Amino acid sequence: MKVGVVGLGTMGAGIAQLAVEAGLETVGREVTDELGEKARGRIDHFLTRKVEKGQIESYDISLLSTTTEVSDFSECDVVIEAIVEELDPKRELFAELEKVCGPDAVLATNTSALSVTEIAGAVSTPERVVGMHFFNPAPLMPLVEIVRAERSSDEAFDTAFELAEKLGKHPIRCHDTPGFVVNRVLIPLLNDCVRVLDEARVTPEDLDAGMKHGAGWPMGPCELVDLVGIDVHVNASEALWEKLREPRMAPPARLVAMANAGLLGRKSGRGFYSYDS
Ligand code: 3HC
Repeated sequence: MKVGVVGLGTMGAGIAQLAVEAGLETVGREVTDELGEKARGRIDHFLTRKVEKGQIESYDISLLSTTTEVSDFSECDVVIEAIVEELDPKRELFAELEKVCGPDAVLATNTSALSVTEIAGAVSTPERVVGMHFFNPAPLMPLVEIVRAERSSDEAFDTAFELAEKLGKHPIRCHDTPGFVVNRVLIPLLNDCVRVLDEARVTPEDLDAGMKHGAGWPMGPCELVDLVGIDVHVNASEALWEKLREPRMAPPARLVAMANAGLLGRKSGRGFYSYDS
């Protein structure tokens, strides 16, 4: 099986890393050669660490080719999109992919909170479109939500499910409802956490300690929003709020202000906390 990944940012690079680790021929696309090379370096680094720690015996980085051309996905059996979380660019990309990929290729989106059905509406063969929603950091988090859109075929859905298993993940089946399963619960919960910061006048450190040591979370909510990206979280929150109109879904003002100020979390070096680059 040959896998394509569109967008080698945090999520896309993590997904491409999983495909290489699983021994699959992988094509990754970025907008510039430089960004492609940077992602390749990161993937190589993490896989080398896994060999050093004895978690894997070896890997073959030559399975990964990077490109700037969508036409290089022509031989792929499954293409996973992990570009910016906006509907129009995703719809444009899927229309382009449909033109270059073979008729049986499955087109999957890693969207967090947009409608897979609306993305599929951009192509004339929506049966081949499904959601494959990975969690951040993709190489470490076991879950993948396999999302059935309104017109997804059983074949496309099963192919995506089997690919997730090949990547060593724990896939679950769900439908194209806002936020699917985990984000429907997690996003309003994280929004509550951020609102509690102001209401209860606690520091991010104390709130994080509270949820880690009192509720058994592996990392605190402020650390987690920093990891996910403040902008990504705000976008996903807005998408859920737009669809469900529940006040808890709306992004808290504090997060919107942080996103506008460029405090995006780990990737920008500063969010609730500061990070060395
Ligand atoms: N690939 C491979 N290895 C990686 C990596 C990557 N991309 N990123 C980090 N690692 C490595 C680290 O470098 C480290 O290796 P080292 O020993 O060589 O330094 C190793 O993995 C373990 O890292 P940590 O010590 O940080 O691992 P922890 O045991 O602390 O676990 C965690 C980290 C799995 C992230 C854990 O803290 C956790 O489960 N946090 C919660 C994360 C979560 O909830 N994610 C979901 C967010 S919601 C989402 O994604 C939805 C989206 O739609 C918004």
